[in-house]
Amino acid sequence: MTNAADPAVVVVTARPDPGGLTRLFAASVPILVVEQGDAALAALAERAADLVLIEAGPTPDSCLDALALIRGLRLRPHLAHTSILLVAAGEPAETRRRALEAGATDVVLAPPGTTDLTAEGLDASDLALRGRNLIALARAKGAVETQARTLAREVERAAAESQEREREIIRRLMLAAEFRDDQAGDHLTRVAGCVLAIADGLGLSEEEGNDIALASTMHDIGKIGVADSILHKPGPLTEPERCEMMQHALRGYRMLHDSPSRLLRLAAEIALTHHERWDGAGYPQGLKGTEIPLPGRITAVADVFDALISARVYKPGWPLERARRFLEEQSGAHFDPDCVAAFLSRWDDVVALIEERPADRAA
Ligand SMILES: [Fe+2]
Ligand SMILES: [Fe+2]
Repeated sequence: MTNAADPAVVVVTARPDPGGLTRLFAASVPILVVEQGDAALAALAERAADLVLIEAGPTPDSCLDALALIRGLRLRPHLAHTSILLVAAGEPAETRRRALEAGATDVVLAPPGTTDLTAEGLDASDLALRGRNLIALARAKGAVETQARTLAREVERAAAESQEREREIIRRLMLAAEFRDDQAGDHLTRVAGCVLAIADGLGLSEEEGNDIALASTMHDIGKIGVADSILHKPGPLTEPERCEMMQHALRGYRMLHDSPSRLLRLAAEIALTHHERWDGAGYPQGLKGTEIPLPGRITAVADVFDALISARVYKPGWPLERARRFLEEQSGAHFDPDCVAAFLSRWDDVVALIEERPADRAA
């Protein structure tokens, strides 16, 4: 794409007076005339142009120089779409083939046997017409490229906006869950931090870890449907109350699973499976081992760990080391052993996270 300061046409010629060539174009078209060889390469080092018209001399060597120049110009990204028109003498089919292979857009051949290769010796109107067409072609390519770049930027911006909206929805839902379950406090933030640590320990990509961490903050969103009398009951739950409480996994899933948002569907999967156990004794489906989706297995470790170190109306928060021992004991029973190992491999990060956002440990 040319800038306002760039010439529309660069004429490369060995002739001292290329007047015939320059007169082919309207006076309004800015033209720069440069000598063949290094001077031409230097002149086009940073400049773009719509058309580079290269007039080769009549000798075979001069034609080879012109072909080398075309190849050199085509290596430059800013000239990738510039039209290059070669005016040359030589055996017509062979010269045309080699010129096009070198990267010329079009070739105008002087009649065989021509020794004085000048624009005046050629069909001037044909050359002028081709030149104008090639300028129009280069400008059209430039316009299409600009449009494509603008569209790509628009698509990128729209995708980023939509992703940000998705994340915003999730943060709002997390707030809703926190308001509903006042025990939550920083629980969801700590769970997300522990999920990140486990994902990192498992070698998942940063993007995967971030997605699972964000989606994990909705693991208990289904508790919105659990009665206050059960959710905030200070003592142990009766069997029917426990069954009602267990419904939160399925309810959370139902709230989210049919969303077009990939993150909300991930959150649905976590809501459904975060109470499954590695040994198959969990709920609601009694899935076992790797039947449980990995995000659910990761969240189970993070969620139980934080529940253990946090105070509940019926228990004080456990010291970190005691909770750690519990995870170790339950590795392969309640929890995926790989997730526990990943969690322990990032133990220092977990301790730092809890120190930054401490759980309320008093009963
Ligand atoms: Fe839960
Ligand atoms: Fe939780």
